[in-house]
Amino acid sequence: MALGLLWLGLALLEALQTQAWVSTLNLIPAPPLLRVPLQPDFQNDQFQGKWYVIGLAGNKFNKEYLQFTMYATVYELNEDNSYDVTSILAWNQTCDHWLRTFIPSSQPGQFTLGYIERYIGTQSYTVRVVTTDYNQVATVFFKKVYNNQEYFKITLYGRTKELTPELKENFISFAKSLNLTDEHIIFPIPIDQCIDE
Ligand SMILES: *[C@@H]1O[C@H](CO)[C@@H](O)[C@H](O)[C@H]1NC(C)=O
Ligand SMILES: *[C@@H]1O[C@H](CO)[C@@H](O)[C@H](O)[C@H]1NC(C)=O
Repeated sequence: MALGLLWLGLALLEALQTQAWVSTLNLIPAPPLLRVPLQPDFQNDQFQGKWYVIGLAGNKFNKEYLQFTMYATVYELNEDNSYDVTSILAWNQTCDHWLRTFIPSSQPGQFTLGYIERYIGTQSYTVRVVTTDYNQVATVFFKKVYNNQEYFKITLYGRTKELTPELKENFISFAKSLNLTDEHIIFPIPIDQCIDE
């Protein structure tokens, strides 16, 4: 088993995208936000808690990430309606925690990154909950401008580590509606380390 690859973590993924060579790739343009659906009547309290990342698609992903292992993201609501967002991933035989804050924006279900000045090179960062039923599944859209390049990704979240094939198919269709191809869509491998804590 390619353990090295299995341990490939989100940290690495984030690091890779910031490398200069990315800017020489032909990135699929990010859709305008208006083209991305928004969960009506978003309930920020019900969205809290742990979500497993079942699917991932974005204009910087490719087949090299196929053996990417599953990570989990926990949303905790603050009194000011921002979220503390913690991603937990297995990395180099330890559990890595990656923290950030999502600040509510003009529309319920849409957020910006808090303390963005700490993320050198990041000019904007938008999070938009596309759809969710709160207790089973969610799709979230992320768009970031980094060094004048627009990156976008969508995540398929599950409250459990498995979702039905239909839900995965819906996710693939949505990715393709944003001009992504099969090349850009990955389903991280479920693991038990770290993400069940
Ligand atoms: C997909 O690509 C086509 C052709 O470049 C473009 O017209 C369309 O707006 C794109 N769709 C989205 C959702 O960005
Ligand atoms: C992995 O963990 C070991 C032990 O904690 C450490 O010495 C090593 O530098 C780490 N490797 C990477 C790539 O972070």
